[in-house]
Amino acid sequence: MQEIKGKAQVAELIRTQRATRQYSQQAVSEEDIRTILNAGRRAQSSNNTQPWQFIVVRDREILKQLAEGGKYTAHVPHAAFAIALVASSKTGSADFDLGQAAAYLQLAAWDLGIGSCITWMHYPEKAKEALHVPTDLEFHIVLSFGYPAPQEHPQATNRLSSAAGASPGYQKERSQAL
Ligand SMILES: Cc1cc2nc3c(=O)[nH]c(=O)nc-3n(C[C@H](O)[C@H](O)[C@H](O)COP(=O)(O)O)c2cc1C
Repeated sequence: MQEIKGKAQVAELIRTQRATRQYSQQAVSEEDIRTILNAGRRAQSSNNTQPWQFIVVRDREILKQLAEGGKYTAHVPHAAFAIALVASSKTGSADFDLGQAAAYLQLAAWDLGIGSCITWMHYPEKAKEALHVPTDLEFHIVLSFGYPAPQEHPQATNRLSSAAGASPGYQKERSQAL
């Protein structure tokens, strides 16, 4: 098996990545967008179904229309670009698989210094209309991307101290940012 290097870097990306909602004006290159997309398509999926379609949106008017598809979308029109994650199958695990792809897309972007935010489409019918997505497909997730604005402080954030529920009883604890 091929030796994997750079573990420390991945750990650092995971530690420091957080939702970025304020973007600088700097454009993201075509090459970087392709690098990000390629990371997304490498995600694992149930039975290797790869049940996703990624739609890249750069047009500001369409970004604005897309923002109409969710409740908490103020950042979307200001992104350098967005990727809509459309489920191309209705298998029970498609949501989970799309979540995996989203994580890869976001980490690959962060590796390039590009921040991102997951945005939920509470009104999927509006979001589908904006991108001409067929009405019978599942579409709830948009990822917005852009270089963080100077006022954004993309540093490590608080997370639960442990993901493992200890029995008896399940107690949530907040930890300091590590
Ligand atoms: C399934 C899901 C849906 C989300 N929807 C939105 C959204 O609609 N709008 C938004 O601004 N952030 C959204 N987020 C981003 C979360 O608010 C963010 O990941 C969380 O607050 C942690 O932020 P941090 O990484 O900066 O600590 C969503 C995240 C997930 C995982």
